[in-house]
Amino acid sequence: MIDVAAVYKKVIRATVFAGELPARFYRSVFRGTYPATVRQQLGAVVNNLVLHVHPTRVYDRSIKAQTTFGLGLICFYLFIIEWITGIFLMFYYEPSTGAAYGRILDLNYTITFGRVMRNLHRWAAEAMVVGVALHMCRVFYTGAYKPPREFNWVLGVSLLVLTLALSFTGYLLPWDQLSFWAVTVGTNIVSYAPVLGPWLRFILLGGETVGSDALLRFYTLHVIAVPAVTALIVNYHIWRVIKDGGLAHPSENRGADGEPLGQPQRSDSVVTTFPRVVYLELLVFLVLMVGLPAASLLFNAPLEEEANPLTPSNPSKAPWYFLGLQELVGYSAFWGGVGVPTLLMIYLVVLPYVDRRPAGIGIWFARERVVMISVWTVILLGILVTTALGIYFRGPNWNFYWPWENWPGPH
Ligand code: HEM
Repeated sequence: MIDVAAVYKKVIRATVFAGELPARFYRSVFRGTYPATVRQQLGAVVNNLVLHVHPTRVYDRSIKAQTTFGLGLICFYLFIIEWITGIFLMFYYEPSTGAAYGRILDLNYTITFGRVMRNLHRWAAEAMVVGVALHMCRVFYTGAYKPPREFNWVLGVSLLVLTLALSFTGYLLPWDQLSFWAVTVGTNIVSYAPVLGPWLRFILLGGETVGSDALLRFYTLHVIAVPAVTALIVNYHIWRVIKDGGLAHPSENRGADGEPLGQPQRSDSVVTTFPRVVYLELLVFLVLMVGLPAASLLFNAPLEEEANPLTPSNPSKAPWYFLGLQELVGYSAFWGGVGVPTLLMIYLVVLPYVDRRPAGIGIWFARERVVMISVWTVILLGILVTTALGIYFRGPNWNFYWPWENWPGPH
C-alpha cells in the first residue's frame, strides 16, 4: 500500500527545499543579505572583491553624465570585450601566411557566429581608439591632469600608445591587401626615425619586409604582450583614480592666496557607491552590449583579396589613426615619421608637470585655462584635419581627390 501521507510530506519538503535554493545560492555567493542601510552599503563596497576598486562614497556631481560621459569606463568595457571576442577568434585563427586569410574567410562565411564575432572584435577595437582619445580630451578640458593626478595622466598616455599598438598589431592579422599594405606603410613611417628607425622596423618585422616573421611577431604582440601590459596598467590607472582622491572636483581649486575658491567640497552632496554608481556602471555596460552587437550585425569588418606583396594597393594607406602622420610624411619624412610624434609625446608627458596651477580643476573649459585650452584645441584640429585629409581626400598615387570623385574610396 502506498503511504499517501508520507509521499505528500516528501513532496512538500522537496518543494520547500527547491524554493529555498535560490536564497541559499545567493547567500553562498554574497555572504549576506541585500545591503539596504547606508552602513551595509558602505560595507558592500569595502568587502567585495570587485566593488572595492571604488571609493565607498562619491560626489553626486561625479556621477552626472556630463562630468565624464563615462568614457574611461567605456574604454575599460571595450578592453574586456576585446579579450573575450579575441579568445573566440584565437580558436580558429592561424598566424601563418599560408593559412591566415583562409581562416578569416572561414570565420566570415562558414563558422557559426564567426562573422559577428570578428565584427564585434573589430568595431570594439575601433571604438576603443576613439574612446581613449575622447576620454583624454575630457580629462584635458576638465583640467583633471593637474596635481595630484599628474602621474595618472602619464599612465593614461602610455595607455593611449598601448591602445594604438593593440589596434595596429591586430591590423595585419587578416593578411589581406588592405592590412598588408597598411602595415607596410605604417612600419615605413617608423623607419624614418634617424639611426634607430630602420633597426626598429627590422625588429618589428623580423626582416626587411612584411612576411611570415612579421605576421608571427604581430600575432604574438597582439594576443599576449600588448594586452598583458595594457591590463596591468589599466588596473593601476583605475586604482590610482581612487588613491588620487577620486575624480577631479572643483573644490580643489585655489586662489592666489592658496585659499579654496568658491564653495568648499563639503557643501557638495555625496552618495554611496552602492547602489547608485554600480547600477549606473551596469547601465553603461548594457547600452554597450546592445550598441556593439547591433553595429556588428549591420556593418562588416573590411576584408579585401588576399595579400599580394607584388601588387601594392593604390593608394596604400596606413590605418586611419596614423593617416595624419602619413599625410605629414608626404611633405617631410622626418617631421611626419619622427619630429611631430616625438614632440607630441613630449608635450603630453610634460604637460601635467608644467601646468600645475590649481585653477580650472574639474570644470569644463575653465576661463582661467584659456591659453592651455587654445593650444590643445589647435593641436587637436591639426590632427583631425590631417587625418580627414588622409581618409577622405587622398586617392590613387596619393593625389588629392574630392571624396565624391570616382575612385575606390576610403576604407
Ligand atoms: C585603456 C585606456 C583607459 C582606460 C580603461 C581608462 C580608465 C579610466 C577610468 C575608469 C577613469 C575614471 C573616470 C572616468 O571614467 O572618466 C579614468 C580616469 C582618468 N583617466 Fe583614464 N583610462 C584610459 C586612458 C586614459 C588616457 C589616454 C588618459 C590621458 C592621457 C587618462 C587619464 C586619466 C585621468 C587623469 C583620470 C582621472 C580623471 C579625473 O580625476 O577626473 N586615461 N580613466
